[in-house]
Amino acid sequence: MKILIINGPNLNLLGKREPTIYGNLTLEQIELKISDSAVQLDMEVDFIQSNHEGVLIDSIQQASEKGFSGIILNAAAYSHTSIALHDAIKSTNTPVIEVHLSNIYAREDFRHHSYISAVSIGQISGFGLDSYLLALRAIKKYLNYE
Ligand code: DQA
Repeated sequence: MKILIINGPNLNLLGKREPTIYGNLTLEQIELKISDSAVQLDMEVDFIQSNHEGVLIDSIQQASEKGFSGIILNAAAYSHTSIALHDAIKSTNTPVIEVHLSNIYAREDFRHHSYISAVSIGQISGFGLDSYLLALRAIKKYLNYE
């Protein structure tokens, strides 16, 4: 079971960026911890981070042909703005779990709406690194039950 972990804009700055909200781990450290967890769960993971909406759309469109059975997506600020990402998820058969490090509902009003949620199988928000680790378990269960 191969899962693609997609991180969107500004998440390359994790560790330095607003650590009181996003924590001290860098994206590389988060990815290493996800990889460790994937080994234990007998899953394969691959990662992409981009600050560009089109690159995120391309990776969602291409996930299936590249052999991924599921996607864990932190679209960051594009979650709140991107109808194009919404449409890309809707256009693919690859199931997507939406994740956020922070609890988007406890923050500014403009973060309370996500264009990703309605086209995802579920959303995990507010648990920092654990949002990704929980999503990994959730997508494994989801795919096994399918
Ligand atoms: C985020 C929450 C978004 O509102 C924000 O724009 C981000 C990160 C999170 O992981 O908590 O860049 O997706």
